[in-house]
Amino acid sequence: MKRRLRGALPPASPPKPSSGPSAAELVAAARAARDRAYAPYSGFRVGAALLTEQGDVVTAANVENASYGLAICAERSAVVAAVAAGSRSFTALAVAGNGPDPVTPCGACRQVLREFPNGADLEVLCAGESGDKLLTTTLGALLPDSFGPDNLGGPGAASRDPRSDQS
Ligand code: THU
Repeated sequence: MKRRLRGALPPASPPKPSSGPSAAELVAAARAARDRAYAPYSGFRVGAALLTEQGDVVTAANVENASYGLAICAERSAVVAAVAAGSRSFTALAVAGNGPDPVTPCGACRQVLREFPNGADLEVLCAGESGDKLLTTTLGALLPDSFGPDNLGGPGAASRDPRSDQS
């Protein structure tokens, strides 16, 4: 059964099943993960919590480096951790920065998130320091007309499709 997030999207969305974390719980997980950020250069600490289709919550934080360009965002860290743990399908992402306003995933992270089956339908909850201000959107809204695995049609496409790739 698909685990959806309770109470994430405003009115138009269908009622969510009562299983799985609520939107507030997923944001709280992202805020807790933010405490583990390694951001000595920017001071901008970010936590992410990814809800897998199996109902697991995978958390991560940004990790910076003395070679500045090697910084890894919280969202991408969460995707890598989730895939390494065996999940390739996600239903919601919460991200929390330590600024006053909600932080939205950077362009590179949007594309990385787009790779996986729920792609455009992924619910994205963006929070700032307090978690009080919440921006709720979808990956499809953040990355319209996107490029993804389906665009790699033609011979050999099946073996490149992550949904059929068991390797
Ligand atoms: N960062 C994230 O982790 N996620 C975002 O959505 C925006 C930016 C990190 C990268 C870097 O460590 C710091 O925030 C400043 O850009």
